[in-house]
Amino acid sequence: MITVAGFNTAIDRFIQVDALTPGEVHRVREEKIYPGGKGVHVAQTIAELGERVRLIGLVDQAHEAFITRQLNARGALFHGVAIEGQLRQCLALQEPDGRITEILAQGPQLNPIEQDALLREFGRGVEDSELMILSGSLPRGFADSLYAGLVEYAHGLGKRCLVDASGEALRHAVDAKPLLVKPNRDEISRLVGYPVIDLHAAEKAVTALRERGVTMPVVSLGEQGAVAADETGMWHAQLASTQVRNAVGSGDCFLAGMAVAILRKLPLDEALRLAVACGVANAESEETGFAKRGHVDALLPRVTVRRL
Ligand SMILES: Nc1ncnc2c1ncn2[C@@H]1O[C@H](COP(=O)(O)OP(=O)(O)OP(=O)(O)O)[C@@H](O)[C@H]1O
Ligand SMILES: [Mg+2]
Repeated sequence: MITVAGFNTAIDRFIQVDALTPGEVHRVREEKIYPGGKGVHVAQTIAELGERVRLIGLVDQAHEAFITRQLNARGALFHGVAIEGQLRQCLALQEPDGRITEILAQGPQLNPIEQDALLREFGRGVEDSELMILSGSLPRGFADSLYAGLVEYAHGLGKRCLVDASGEALRHAVDAKPLLVKPNRDEISRLVGYPVIDLHAAEKAVTALRERGVTMPVVSLGEQGAVAADETGMWHAQLASTQVRNAVGSGDCFLAGMAVAILRKLPLDEALRLAVACGVANAESEETGFAKRGHVDALLPRVTVRRL
């Protein structure tokens, strides 16, 4: 079992409109609503790859059935922690030329009872899980050191953790020495204090993370693939695609692939191959944060993996 602590569940609303003009009334051409947030993306992709997974995240009364239904349909369990406020709402407005304007709400401020309920659910999840994934922004009300504390708690029970976070939450998490962190270019640049925009800089950053005690650091580089290292060495994996439609959530699907590979005890080069195939499968489809198994399987042999 893999447990995903992706607390900040969201409702993603995707709306097609005619060209946007500030101050004008806009009529909706088409509207789609999805359960969103990094936790949902990671959990549904792990389930799609065939492993048992549960997601622990916030839920409000209005959306409980909606989120549970989608995750269950995709084979993932949802352990929603009910809050009084509203889930985070993310609005994407797409114009006919494809341009997307996003409006992201702040998300709920949790009271202490709600915080405790989430942490208790995390504690229960650790018990029967082989891997814990901590992914996404922290709901307002939690300290930046929350992920670090949860990693230490899981380590105390002999469980391994994968962390996908940014800013101070990532900095603290690295100090707790999880098995894996997966910053993207922006996130790693902020962490190490120099721009990580090419392979050379990514190698340097991955080495720095190893020295800080992360067993298997990964830096993802969008279309340039990803660099990762463990005790067997450092690898680069990439698949150039000419079919990219929506790369948002590719990092989440990449992380799902890494987690499944680690659970299956694949060596790092094979883990990276699966992760990159998942990232690209997501990028080549319209939906945010979901990689279909058949698509991933078709991409796997096309991923190039080489030792650095
Ligand atoms: N345009 C692209 N072309 C080819 N591969 C891509 C592209 N975008 C993403 N990928 C693949 O997906 C992986 C993760 O992408 P990226 O580094 O953009 O993650 P991210 O910024 O964390 O994404 P998010 O946080 O939106 O999920 C990359 O390492 C790469 O393998
Ligand atoms: Mg990301």
